[in-house]
Amino acid sequence: MKLITEGDINPYYAQTLCMIFFPGAKFGVDEAVENDTPVVTIRVTEIEGAARAYASIRIGDVYKESTRKFDYRPEMTPERVRKIAAGAAMLAVGEKFFGYQPSWGILTGVRPAKVATELLESGLTPGRAREALRRQYLLTPKKAALAVEVAVHEQKLIGTPDPRDCSVYISIPFCPSRCAYCSFVSYTSPRLLSLIPDYMVRLCADIDRTFAQIKRLGLHVKTVYIGGGTPTILSPKQLEMLLGAINRGVDVSTLEEFTLESGRPDTITAEKLSVAADYGVTRISVNPQSLDSAVLDRIGRAHSVSAFYEAFATARKSGIPHINTDLIAGLPEDNFLKFSHTLDNVIALAPDNITVHTFCVKKAADILREGHDIYSLRGGEAGTCVDYSQIKAQEEGYFPYYMYRQKNTVGNFENVGFAREGTEGRYNIYMMEEVHSIFAVGAGAVTKLVHIRPKNPKDTKIIRIAPPKYPYEYLRSDHRAEEEAQIDTFYGSELLDE
Ligand SMILES: C[S@@+](CC[C@H](N)C(=O)[O-])C[C@H]1O[C@@H](n2cnc3c(N)ncnc32)[C@H](O)[C@@H]1O
Ligand code: SF4
Repeated sequence: MKLITEGDINPYYAQTLCMIFFPGAKFGVDEAVENDTPVVTIRVTEIEGAARAYASIRIGDVYKESTRKFDYRPEMTPERVRKIAAGAAMLAVGEKFFGYQPSWGILTGVRPAKVATELLESGLTPGRAREALRRQYLLTPKKAALAVEVAVHEQKLIGTPDPRDCSVYISIPFCPSRCAYCSFVSYTSPRLLSLIPDYMVRLCADIDRTFAQIKRLGLHVKTVYIGGGTPTILSPKQLEMLLGAINRGVDVSTLEEFTLESGRPDTITAEKLSVAADYGVTRISVNPQSLDSAVLDRIGRAHSVSAFYEAFATARKSGIPHINTDLIAGLPEDNFLKFSHTLDNVIALAPDNITVHTFCVKKAADILREGHDIYSLRGGEAGTCVDYSQIKAQEEGYFPYYMYRQKNTVGNFENVGFAREGTEGRYNIYMMEEVHSIFAVGAGAVTKLVHIRPKNPKDTKIIRIAPPKYPYEYLRSDHRAEEEAQIDTFYGSELLDE
């Protein structure tokens, strides 16, 4: 498509606005305009005390335009005012052209709960923050309420971050088979799976070094999260080795939370979970994604509905205190009837957490694949499923405690974690909100060093360190020494002495 920007508007921001209506759009610099090439113009000009934005869309002979103005105000930077004006004009012209109003308004590329937190921290009441999200960012009332509720819960759980806090993430990037829809990095070929024994040896050595460094730096580990892939692909012996290494590094009884992601029901056995319970794991995931066999077949999920029920019962019997279940709304072959059946049946098992993702298609262009209702801008029945999950979960005593949005999800909907009071997956919040460092161990696991300055949170300093992504490279490289040096430098200076 062709995008023309004029005036004081960041072209990349203008592109994100276009993508609300043209998911997967490519923006050519000198693109030749065919008759059906969409041409969008966004212009921002100054008028007295306000930014005035004009937006138009032309496709072939059809042309629509809108203008909006937004007043400058002391609590907002001029750049933000211009962005809001441009967003409002784009949403207005998009609605004229497509008859579609995005439920998240102009919020793209930013976490809604972050914006809500900023509004609350500026002194607004939750009611006023909801109103600001509706009026300024053009969220629907439902999404504005969700963003504020999540922000309030997150802040309650985060409290006052301490620069000495940290968490540890351990990566097991292997799965028994590849699910067709999966958007995560994970290895399933027999050649790569045969590396698991060597991977475990290297991983455990790196875990030892990581905890030794954490101790040396005088940091306090709040949570440990073993993620995947599918960590329960490991044999009971390998799990013992992994959990043993973690127990050597930290007194797990002092952790707020110790998660073993598990996930795939067909990898969960009583023996593995008994090892997990013995070594202090407090939270696991048992994920159905859907409880409809036609949907499971269609998404290439290599387990049956009954395998999920069996794995869930095994998890409950293991005595591990908190169980999470992951679901996906908007999957191909799914519809509202099937999704509501899935959710109702999952809730009947009383898991402690339920995480409802929105289906994220791998290629943006697939979002508008012809003939599929879920690939329309509105996301077919996915929106009703997402709404239903939020109403039903809250009716059943779960509250939304974390949320994030991804690119290329059907209908542009969100992912929400629900929990019963006191069972929230805290690692998820710490990681998402960047309130303390996450030391990551294993192939592809990115360490994120965070120094939050309690007196001035806006000055938070963040550094990312990425190890080799692929298991072969991970096994061959000595990235750890370099990583340790970077971490020492980060913490070595005045950071912890403030
Ligand atoms: C890292 S995956 C690991 C979970 C575990 N291996 C499993 O499959 O049960 C975490 C979750 O992301 C979600 N997920 C993966 N691919 C997705 C996609 N394309 N769209 C939406 N959610 C997705 C699934 O709900 C999955 O349980
Ligand atoms: S088991 Fe989980 S991580 Fe592995 S491919 Fe399937 S969804 Fe992705």
